[in-house]
Amino acid sequence: MKVTLRIVLSIFIAISLIVLLFTLFQVQQEKARLKAELEHRVSLLAESLEESVAPLVGQGNLDRLKSIVGKFSNRQRLEGVAIYDTKDNLIAATPDLAPMPPTIPTIVTDAMNANQAEGVFITIKDKRRYLYVLPINRDGNVAGALVIFNDATYIQERLFQIWKNNFVRLLVQAFFISLITMLVIRWSISGPIARLVEWMKGFREDKAIEPFHLPKGNIFEPLTKEITHMVRSIMVARSAAEEEARLRHTADSLWTAKRLTEHIRSLLKDKNLFVVSNREPYMHVRSGDQMECIIPASGLVTAVEPVLEACGGLWIAHGSGEADKEVVDQQDKIRVPPEEPLYTLKRVWLTTEEEEGYYFGFSNEGLWPLCHIAHTRPIFRRVDWNHYQTVNEKFARAVLEEIYATDEPLVLVQDYHFALLPRLIKEERPDARIALFWHIPWPNPESFGICPWQREILDGMLGADLIGFHIQLHCNNFLDTVDKALESRIDWEHFAVKRKDHTTYVKPFPISIAYPGDSNNLNLTRIKKGDIFKQLGIKSRLLGVGVDRLDYTKGILERLRAIERFLDKYPDYKGKFTFVELGAPSRTLIKRYQELVKEIEAEVERINARFQTGDWKPIILLKRHHSHKEIKPFYESADVCLVTSLHDGMNLVAKEYVAAREDEQGVLILSRFTGASRELRDALIVNPYNIEQMADALRTALEMDEEEQRARMQKMRESLRSNNIYRWAANLIEELTKIRIEY
Ligand code: G6P
Repeated sequence: MKVTLRIVLSIFIAISLIVLLFTLFQVQQEKARLKAELEHRVSLLAESLEESVAPLVGQGNLDRLKSIVGKFSNRQRLEGVAIYDTKDNLIAATPDLAPMPPTIPTIVTDAMNANQAEGVFITIKDKRRYLYVLPINRDGNVAGALVIFNDATYIQERLFQIWKNNFVRLLVQAFFISLITMLVIRWSISGPIARLVEWMKGFREDKAIEPFHLPKGNIFEPLTKEITHMVRSIMVARSAAEEEARLRHTADSLWTAKRLTEHIRSLLKDKNLFVVSNREPYMHVRSGDQMECIIPASGLVTAVEPVLEACGGLWIAHGSGEADKEVVDQQDKIRVPPEEPLYTLKRVWLTTEEEEGYYFGFSNEGLWPLCHIAHTRPIFRRVDWNHYQTVNEKFARAVLEEIYATDEPLVLVQDYHFALLPRLIKEERPDARIALFWHIPWPNPESFGICPWQREILDGMLGADLIGFHIQLHCNNFLDTVDKALESRIDWEHFAVKRKDHTTYVKPFPISIAYPGDSNNLNLTRIKKGDIFKQLGIKSRLLGVGVDRLDYTKGILERLRAIERFLDKYPDYKGKFTFVELGAPSRTLIKRYQELVKEIEAEVERINARFQTGDWKPIILLKRHHSHKEIKPFYESADVCLVTSLHDGMNLVAKEYVAAREDEQGVLILSRFTGASRELRDALIVNPYNIEQMADALRTALEMDEEEQRARMQKMRESLRSNNIYRWAANLIEELTKIRIEY
């Protein structure tokens, strides 16, 4: 209140000063104008009068003179006219002049002496007057003087009027400006502050769950952004503390970010962790003329990022964002996450040809379909293989440069893009401890055998000391493949491969997500199902969600057909159930992916055309990259989440859905061909090729009572809690550090 008063007072004083200055100026101008006008008018009158009276002065024709002069009384502001002779005697005057002082003002004498017209503003009898004296000439001599008396009080009155008007204007202006200022202060400053304070109070009292929003462009927007960050961090700390406390009372087997940090510190001492992957955790892209930092849709990133956040270290990845180069330092490095840097990202640049051959070609047209049995034929081209080797060598050089000063460095190589990397590093640095984690399935030896360079790939991989897969089946397939393709000894007792005096251990490490304990899981946002439908512009009651990269391994077409079958089989759900697919376009330069997107769009259109009504649709395809924040409300409110991959190493969407359900409601439909189905046994497990079964599972899910939903969700959440990403990292790194390296 005090501040408002101060602001209003200051505005009032400022306006007053401005008005005062302008009024002074205006008054000066007006005064000069009125005076000049009066002087001009009077001099004209005097001159015209002089012509008539001059011949009469000195002739003694006083009667005629008096009669001429008498005619000039009663004119506006003209008080009268007097004629004096050279001896200062009044010889004629208008009758109204009688009350004037009989003494002649010296100005008359002076004007006659100087034979020059003169005007003066003078106060006579308390009244401001203007006297104009014009000497009368006869025969070249001064014969007398014509004096015109004018009322000049109107000038004062006019000036006073200006002061008065401006004062009233000042009051009106000041009133309105103060009022508007107060309203603006209230709307833009005190209102938001009061709401912010209320929100923070709610948060302090553990009540605040809605994020605090101000309209775009509000001056407090940066402040609230910072406060929201701070609040998030406090919430993370708070929940970590709660988790720690909870852990103290439960089994020691639960892992948190904090525990992983300590554990890794004790294992690595002061050494850095080195991670290599193709996909980077943060991509700088252009959106219009703005630069945006996005987290790519990638299971690998979802899983590995929290590990780096907890342990710090260096992550080497392909800089694939169009604005990536603009933000790195001279060594192509940048500290991330952008809002709270915890580790370093080093970007490696690839030429367009390299990217096409190594990433789109060999990795994603060759190895990806080869390892996922999803009926898309792998394509192997010599030129792609050459690029694959070159890029692996390029990354090997980048890693070797970074580990140069570290003894026995710990290098975690990620995925099928870098099968050759372990060998390339090991050859140069036999002391390095290298793990290769394969994020996708490994097929049986016969399937893998179709790769023309299977021996080179296996040899490259066996440069690692430890190879991890999600599940035991993939480890077995890998060992079988090595057994069939390479000269080596398989130690089935320890799940290891012995080759040229080097041992590689092969173990399952089911990857997971940061649960609990990352800020994404904190309940700062709570968008209701109704709001989602409203935003989508439809009316519906039950929500199903799918979150995928638009990839042929994800079984999206099968899912759509299952929804169609469900609506045919259970028509009561028409108008009541809507499935939303949050599909991120992926690997869009590859023909098969382009075809898939078209097929999906066509299926959505076909099915919608069959069932949709005025304000309801059975399927909505949102085809774009969605941030975690955008996906979260869908997870939180979907009655059912559909994960129907035809083949998937793990599938973290299934785990993210379970993690998001703090309310312990919702049902997960999960393909039996995902690694996740081994852990999340309380999902409704389906075969995505069996459309009938999926349609029935959908109905079971939508009709499941709350108690059963809760019971299933609780068990899945419990499993997730004990098998989170921190445990994954701890196990993998511990296993790697336990291996005896001989060099
Ligand atoms: C899978 C792979 C990852 C890859 C991700 C996204 O999860 O295992 O290595 O990052 O898909 O694919 P993208 O090609 O966009 O990196």
